[in-house]
Amino acid sequence: MAVLVTGGAGFIGSHTAIQLLEKGYDIIVVDNLVNSSVESLNRVRRITGKDFKFYEADLVNKEEIRKIFIENNIEAVIHFAGLKAVGESVSIPLRYYHNNLLSTLNLCEVMEEFNIKKLVFSSSATVYGNPSSVPISEVFPLSATNPYGRTKLMIEDILRDLYASDNDWSIALLRYFNPIGAHSSGLIGEDPKGIPNNLVPYIAQVAGGKLDYLKVFGNTHPTKDGTGVRDYIHVVDLAGGHIKALEKVSTSKGIEAYNLGTGNGYTVLEVVEAYSKACGREIPYKIVDNRPGDVAACFADTSKAKEELGFSTTLTLQDMCMDSWKWQSNNPNGYEK
Ligand code: NAD
Ligand code: UD1
Repeated sequence: MAVLVTGGAGFIGSHTAIQLLEKGYDIIVVDNLVNSSVESLNRVRRITGKDFKFYEADLVNKEEIRKIFIENNIEAVIHFAGLKAVGESVSIPLRYYHNNLLSTLNLCEVMEEFNIKKLVFSSSATVYGNPSSVPISEVFPLSATNPYGRTKLMIEDILRDLYASDNDWSIALLRYFNPIGAHSSGLIGEDPKGIPNNLVPYIAQVAGGKLDYLKVFGNTHPTKDGTGVRDYIHVVDLAGGHIKALEKVSTSKGIEAYNLGTGNGYTVLEVVEAYSKACGREIPYKIVDNRPGDVAACFADTSKAKEELGFSTTLTLQDMCMDSWKWQSNNPNGYEK
C-alpha cells in the first residue's frame, strides 16, 4: 500500500515514516522544509535501509499536490504538514490560517479528485482548550485559545463536514498530547529552530550547555508540586498510533477522533528530575511567573484509542528523557552539519 506522508521530514512525520517502511508500506514524502531538514529523511533511509520518493513542495500550491497524485498510486494519506508554534501563531495569525487551512483544503480537494478517501490527520490536545477536568476524553467540549489551536479545530470541522457530505471517506483525527523523545538510534529527533518553546527541547539544550537554566512557569498550580502537569508521550509510541489509525481507516469508513497520550500526567519538576537522571547532570532551574494561557493539568483518557485502535504505549518518561538526551548529545546542532 502506498501512503503519502505530508510533513514527513518533520519530528513526528520522520518517526512515523520509519515505522511505515518497517511495516512494508511504500511511502511518498512531501514537505516544503519550512520547519525541517532533508537530512532527517536521509537518516530515515539509513535507519531502515529502505528508499522512498521525496517531493520538496508546498501544499499551498495545489498543482504540486496534483502532480504527486498523478505520478504515484497513492492509496491513503497521513497529513502532518502544518505550522505549529503557538506564540508565533498569535503574532502572525494570517500565515497560520493561510498555511494550515489552505494546505488541508488543497490536499482534500486533490484526494477527492483522485477518489482517495483515507486520511489520518494530526490534530492536537489543544482542541480541548481549557478542559474542565482531567483525564480528558474525546467527547469533551472543543475550543481554541490561540490561532494555531483554531486551525486544528477548523480543520477537524472541515473534515467532519466532508464526511457528512460523502460517507465514503474514512478519517482519523489524532489528538496528540505532548510528544517528546527521539528514535533510539539517536539519529533522528526534534530539531527546533531558535530557542525552543516547549519544555523538553528546552531542558535538552540546558543539559547540553546551550542554555543556562530552565524557567519553570509557576509553582502555584493546583498540582502535587505546584508545577504544570502534562501527558508526555514518546514519539516512537506516537508513531505507532499512526500505523494503528492507518489500519483503521483502511478497513472501515467514518470519522473518529482519538486521544494519543499515555494517560499519565507528570509535573515539570518530575520531568526535570527524570532528565537529570538521563543525562547524569543537574538541570538548573528558576521558578518564574506562570505562562499566560497555560492550563494546570492536561492528560488523556486513552480508553477509546485502546478499544477502537488497539493502541497502547510502552515507553516510560525515563525512556523519553534518555532518548531525547541521546539525540541531543549526538546532534548538538540538530541536523545542521
Ligand atoms: P514539524 O514542524 O516538525 O513537522 C511539520 C512539517 O510540515 C515540517 O517538516 C514542515 O516543514 C512541514 N510543512 C509545514 N507547512 C507545509 C506546507 N505548506 N507544505 C509542505 N510541508 C509543510 O512538527 P511535528 O512536531 O512533527 O508536528 C506534526 C503535526 O502534528 C503538525 O501538524 C502539528 O501541528 C501536529 N502536532 C504536533 C504536536 C507537537 O507537540 N509536536 C502536538 C500536537 C499536534
Ligand atoms: C504546548 C502548546 C500546545 C500544544 C502542546 C503539545 C504552547 C503555549 N502550547 O503546550 O498548543 O498542543 O504543546 O505540543 O506552546 N514549561 C516550563 N518552562 C518552559 C516550557 C514549558 O515550565 O520553558 C512548562 C509549561 O508551563 C507546561 C509544561 O512545561 O506546564 C509543558 O509545556 P510545553 O512543552 O510548552 O507544552 P504545553 O504547555 O502542553
